Formats: sequence, C-alpha cells, structure tokens
Amino acid sequence: MCGIIGYMGPKSVVPILIEGLKKLEYRGYDSAGIAVVDKGHIQTRRVKGKIHSLEESLQKSPLNGSYGIGHTRWATHGRPSEENAHPHRDCTGQLVVVHNGIIENYLALKQALKKEGHTFRTETDTEVIAHLIEKKFRGSLEEAVRAAAAELEGAFAVAVLSVEDPDTIVAAKVGPPLVVGLGDNETLVSSDVNPILAYTQNAAFLEDGEMAVIKPEGVKFFDFSGKPVTKKIEHLTWNPLLIEKRGFKHFMLKEIFEQPEVVRDTLLGRISLDSGKVRLDEIGLSAPLLKHVRKALVIACGTSYHAGLVGKYFLESLAHVPVEVEYASEFRYRDFVIDKDTLVIVISQSGETADTLAALRACKERCAAVLAITNAVSSSIARESHGVLYTHAGPEIGVAATKTFTAQLTALLLLALNLGQIKGNIDQETSYALIEEMQRIPHKMEKVLARAKAIEDLASRFVSFSHFLYMGRWVNFPVALEGALKLKEISYVHAEGYPAGEMKHGPIALIDEKMPTLAIVPKDKVYDKLLSNISEIKARAGYVLAVAFEDDAQIPQHVDVVIPIPSAHPLLTPFLTVVPLQLFAYFIAAKRGADVDQPRNLAKSVTVE
Ligand code: F6R
Repeated sequence: MCGIIGYMGPKSVVPILIEGLKKLEYRGYDSAGIAVVDKGHIQTRRVKGKIHSLEESLQKSPLNGSYGIGHTRWATHGRPSEENAHPHRDCTGQLVVVHNGIIENYLALKQALKKEGHTFRTETDTEVIAHLIEKKFRGSLEEAVRAAAAELEGAFAVAVLSVEDPDTIVAAKVGPPLVVGLGDNETLVSSDVNPILAYTQNAAFLEDGEMAVIKPEGVKFFDFSGKPVTKKIEHLTWNPLLIEKRGFKHFMLKEIFEQPEVVRDTLLGRISLDSGKVRLDEIGLSAPLLKHVRKALVIACGTSYHAGLVGKYFLESLAHVPVEVEYASEFRYRDFVIDKDTLVIVISQSGETADTLAALRACKERCAAVLAITNAVSSSIARESHGVLYTHAGPEIGVAATKTFTAQLTALLLLALNLGQIKGNIDQETSYALIEEMQRIPHKMEKVLARAKAIEDLASRFVSFSHFLYMGRWVNFPVALEGALKLKEISYVHAEGYPAGEMKHGPIALIDEKMPTLAIVPKDKVYDKLLSNISEIKARAGYVLAVAFEDDAQIPQHVDVVIPIPSAHPLLTPFLTVVPLQLFAYFIAAKRGADVDQPRNLAKSVTVE
C-alpha cells in the first residue's frame, strides 16, 4: 500500500530514489514520483504507471539534486493519474510530501484549509498534509510536521521536505511502517528495509507517534510531543542479493524455488533430532503460560489465513487444543468473546496488514497472550504482540505469497509440536516421527520442483480455460483454497477452492467439460472419500487433474492427469501439495502474459483497511 523513500547523503540522489522505489514497487504500482532539492529549488517528476515509466521520463529529461524523497502509489483516494501521484505540494510548491496510509478526516481538513485560502490541485487525501504543514510552518519543518500530525486522523507514514528549512527531511508515522537506515554519512528512510540494505545494515524502526529529523550530519528521533527518543539500532541480516531475480524470469518463480531452503531455515535450531523436542524459547512466551492455554484463535488475511487453516489441523492433532481461524477483517468488527486462557495467533508475512494489526489490538488485553507469526523483523505486528515466532523466508517480492506460506506452515507445525510437548499431549514416538519427516520435507519439495517443466507443459494445455475448481479434504482443504487464490490473483482466471465433501451441496452444478478440477489426493484418511468425490465429477463429464503420491498405483485409473509428488506423512502433505499448485498458477499466468509479480489492483503490504 504505497512505498515511500528518502535519501540524505553525499551520493547522487536520483538513482538511489529510483532503485529504492523499484524495491518498494510491490507495495503499489499505479503511479510514481520523486522530488529532489537542487541548490535551493525543489524539482519534482511524477508519472502515471510504474517505476520504469518514471525512469524513462528521467532519462529523457534528467533531474539532479542533493537530497530527496520518492513514492510508488496504490491508489486509495483519487484515480491513478500524474496529478494524483506523489509527492504532493503545498500552495507555494516549496514543500512536498510523500505519504503511505489514509487520512480519515481529510475532507474536513480540506474544507477548512480551502476556506483559509489554500488551493488544492488533486483528489488525494495526502494533499491536505502538505497544506496543513504549510499552515503550521514557522521556520522549522520539524515543528510544523509535529503540529500538523496532531490534527491528522487515520494512518500515515510521511516524509516531508521544504526549501524553507533546507537540508532536512522529516519523517513521521502513525500506522504504516517506516524504517530509517543509518549508513556512513548517509541516511535513508523507507517503508521497508529492502531499499536500505544496499547501503547499510543498521536501521531504526519508527514507532507510532515518532518522527525522524534527517540532516546531512545525521538523524535525530523525537516523539510527537517533541521529546528526544533513543532508538535501538537493529542489525539487518537479510542479504541484498535476496532481492534480485538471479536468473529467474519472475520473483514469484524464484521464490517458489526457494521454498526448500526457506523451510530448512525456519526449522534451523528449533528442533532436536536427539531429544525429539521442539525448542521455541526465543518466542518470548513462557512454558507455564503456554501450558495453561486451553484454546487457540488464529487471525489472518489471504494466504496467511489459509496457512492458519492448515495450522488448525496441526494444532488440533498435535497439541489437542481447539482452534478457531478467523479473517482479521471480519473478526475485528465482531462482538467476539474471548477467554483469558486463549492463545491468539496472528499470522502476517508483512507484519503490517492493517486488519490483522487491528484484530491483534482488539484482543491483546483480553486473551492469555498474542503470538505473531511473521517474516518481518520489528514489524508493527511483531512489536505489538506478546511473543513472536519468526519465519525465515527472506524478502518476498512477488506480490503473490508463496515461500512465506510454506514458511508459515513450518512455523505452525513447530508451534503445534512445541505446545503438544509442553502440555504433555503428544507422545515421544509421534514427535520423533514428525520431526524426522519434517527434516525430509525440503528434499521432497526439491523433487516436486524438479518436475516444474512437466507442470509448465500441463499448464500450456489449460491456458485458455476460464474456470477452475480446486478441491481437497482434511489438511489439504486449505491448500485447495490457496491453489485457487494463486490462480485468481496472478492470472485473473476464475477459480474456486472447495472442501471436496461440499461439492454435492452445490458446486458440482458448475462442472462441465469447460471447468477442470484440480483435486488434491494424497494417501491419507480421506483418500477413499476423495476418490468417490472424483468419480462424481467424472460422471458429469468433468476433467480431473490430481495431485497425488507418485507411488499411488490406483489414482491414474480415476483421473485424467496425475501430478505426482513424493509420498509423505499425511499431516505434512500440504508442504508438498501446494508447490505444484503454485507452479501451475505461475505458468498459466506467465503464458497468458500477465504481470506475475505485480498483478493488477493488488499490493504486497495491505496497510489500509
Ligand atoms: C496472496 C497474498 C495475500 C496476503 C494477505 C495477507 O498471495 O499474498 O492474500 O496473504 O494480504 O498479507 P500478510 O501475510 O502480509 O498479512
């Protein structure tokens, strides 16, 4: 949901802003712009479209400056256009703002500012910030931003500069993330760490109600009352190379292929093959607290929600605690009932999803503890939860989540085993068997990935189909939902995910020769049931592609095409069944010429409601 960047330092600012925006582009990509200060003059360039359009414009007519700010937009107020692109200016054009978030009281502010004589040029909520700061400006940008912030309602991460207070960038936040990178003689401010990594591994994450005042001599932090704040400097461990495509056509494909490594990394140091124990001391929730948990409530959105649904099966089977899984956007507005012995588990790869964060805040005081499962160190969700179980997936740039999904599954399995062991609900033999099998999963994923070409060929045969049905049961029902979501979001092809047992209650009416079914059929306790469900589809002229164990001799007689995966412990099959579905969606989308990494209308980090 919009990416913002700022740079102050000795290097040429324009290439740094552009490179930074490319790394933030996954957050929004309908328009982009930069503003740089050159010898006391602000120069801005804004374009409708993606960063490459901005780059082309700058190649034709370059800008130079000594410091500046930039923005890539995901439209909320005002259609995507050059005029609505950030940075936004005040009346004088001497002050510019980039903003991520939504100003909820912008209409009231706009009307008041208009009455006072301010002239508005855009349909955006952001423009009110520029005019409000202009109104408050008495020579110090820092003070003007502070005074303006006090009147803004809603969510904002902003970076502001004004030629009236030269050599200064002021950044402030309530809601969306902002991180300040502290390099040698140079400072960056950004919506996430990706643009910063090329310059420094030292960073400070702003909390809500904090601001950073960036000058050539360094950065100072304050809260909104003006009190100086001492920030903890975090050492970023992500390797900048992880944000390159490294020979893959798209980030999404690269990230699908990274999954074996990601699962290994997320397991690393957390399991003992000697004792059969899972150790999660790092999460910050004590064993006595976890022992007394009697229920788990999982809250998430999108793909993370699907991971949560798989986690329900893990937690119920291994820890024997009842689990509810909720969409954050629904949960937050319910009159929900929650007990003091409930463990709330919020799952979010970005750690910034607005609905998930709001749900977390809503239950924080009313439950035993909130545990975050996230991939983003020091994200808002990580910081505000009582405990954090980090996934070690590295940065995920493709907008469609892939490797963070399997990393979340890994974390959920570890949690289920850990909870089961602490509560004494899982015997040692089962623990050993699962841990041993989990160790083998990455290698089995590699075997699935080695068959990518066959899945590509299969996808070629289905490129022109407009509807797909995905079905699974038990632990693979959520995988059916996830497979359908992947196809929908990157190829814009209609797909539905269903628990196979529900087919005859309605969806089977959809089946004809134009609607193929992808059935997930590993050998597990519902295998025979699924074969019956498949027969019902075949009896109605349906075409069935089955993700099934490679050593399953029976399945070829029941379906049209088999997509083989190595056999595995039934509970762990989602780690394997999801991979061919990700690849299938990827190849269909790529062959349809879709913008796989940046699908239309979407953004990676959903920091607005
Ligand atoms: C789908 C996808 C989204 C996210 C959802 C939640 O591929 O990526 O559905 O899963 O927006 O995002 P996080 O996990 O960052 O809270």
